[in-house]
This record gives sequence, structure tokens and C-alpha cells, in this order.
Amino acid sequence: MSRLRLAILISGRGTNMERLLQAAADETYPARACLVLSNRANAAGLDTARAYGVEALAIPHKDFEDRERFEHAMDAALREHGIEILALAGFMRVLTPWFVRQWEGRMINIHPSLLPKYPGLDTHKRAIEAGDAEAGCSVHWVSESVDAGDVIAQARVPVKAGDTPEELADRVLVEEHVLYPHALAQACEQIQKKPSS
Ligand code: GAR
Repeated sequence: MSRLRLAILISGRGTNMERLLQAAADETYPARACLVLSNRANAAGLDTARAYGVEALAIPHKDFEDRERFEHAMDAALREHGIEILALAGFMRVLTPWFVRQWEGRMINIHPSLLPKYPGLDTHKRAIEAGDAEAGCSVHWVSESVDAGDVIAQARVPVKAGDTPEELADRVLVEEHVLYPHALAQACEQIQKKPSS
């Protein structure tokens, strides 16, 4: 089975991206990293990607008049690179239904909560304030509603007494780094099993 051509979308430091690049460096992994895209020119993850020998491009959303034009530029770059699967890794722009439809069934995201709990922002603060005993992270297919697509895999951590949102985020992030490469491999296998149209 040939490896799927992978692009990773980031907005910032890119620690999850780095774990995916490490996994995809193994020739037996079902995806090969071909492109990293950031909507911020100063995202630290761009340099990390280049250090792994992966092409990294900034397409700053601020350079475009509106969301649609920005997304058309991203879509064009992804198609030029023959991308077959898209992994969002700390990509902090909400995507329009148009973009989601272009990549439906080929786009996954990591979110720092046990979905369906806490879609959106401030997930760790919300878990602490709700008195949850457990928190965690989810990898899911991207659908038109934010953080609402089918879940591929989750990992759980305890919420400890007195946790700050930052402490909980650090504990969850350790699990994100383990979860995402496994979940991406599962997603690739699901795509490869689909009959080609
Ligand atoms: C991660 O915790 C990821 O789950 C979260 O942003 C962080 C990015 O860190 N994503 C979201 O909140 C998406 N809604 P990273 O840049 O070090 O991977």
C-alpha cells in the first residue's frame, strides 16, 4: 500500500506536528510528510519542520481580504503538493464549509478535550471549573461544525486537586504526543480501505 502524502497545518509552536514528522520519518508509517502550512509567518513550528527536511510555507491569513480567499490559497498549495491527507495540529483558524467539503474524509484534527465535551477554546479551564475528574484529548475527522466530527481516538488523564489550566494542559499534551501519530495512522488506514471513486 503506498504511503499517503501528508500535510500538517499549524499556527504556533508545533509540538504535535513534530511528533507526526517523527512518526512519518519511518518508511513503514502509512503517511509521508510532504508539506507544513502555517497561517502565521512567525510560527516556531515552521523552522522545526524545515529542520526535519520538510517543506514549510506560511500563508498568512492576514494577507487576504477574507476567509474564502485565504482558504483558496491554502487549497491551491495543498493540491500543488498532491496532498492526500491533512492533519490539523494546533491550527487555530475556523474553516469554512467550502474548505471542509474539499477535504472531507481526508482531514483530521487534535483537540485538547474529551469530545463531545468542551469544543472550542479554554478546554482545560472549563474542565477544572466543572469539577471533572478526568480530562484528555481527542483526534477526530473534521466536519462542518467545529470540533464535532467523528472521534478516531482519545486519551485520558486525571484532573488533580489544585490543578491550574496550565498544569492540566501540560499533562494532556504529553498524551496528545502519543495519541496523534497512532490516530493519524488509523485515519490513513481508513482512507486506504475506501474503494477509489
Ligand atoms: C495542542 O494542545 C492542540 O490540542 C491544541 O493546540 C495545542 C497546539 O500545540 N489545539 C486546539 O486547541 C485546536 N482547537 P502544539 O502547537 O505544540 O502542537
